[in-house]
Amino acid sequence: MTEPRWHQVGATDDVARDDVLGITVGETAVAIIRTADDRVFAVDAACTHGRASLAEGFVDGTEIECPKHNGRFDVTTGEAVASPARVALRMYPCRVNNGCIEVQL
Ligand code: FES
Repeated sequence: MTEPRWHQVGATDDVARDDVLGITVGETAVAIIRTADDRVFAVDAACTHGRASLAEGFVDGTEIECPKHNGRFDVTTGEAVASPARVALRMYPCRVNNGCIEVQL
């Protein structure tokens, strides 16, 4: 099994505050969320309800809303917070290093 490692996935300026960016690391689709207060989080891009892409979702505070059925997830924990989403999202460690967003997986 391969050890997780940090991947540079873009500049912080690539993601507006209060928005989301879809990226792919290897074969893994990841949604990078930048909150209005300038924190970044990385979650699995596939919604746990019906696999819609959360990269097309809507950021509201520390939550992201799925574009398909409006389920919501807390991006700080991955927890599903609004129906029909019930299963938490997988999260990945995410950090900013010299203006670059890095994700560990
Ligand atoms: S696919 Fe995301 S809430 Fe249904």
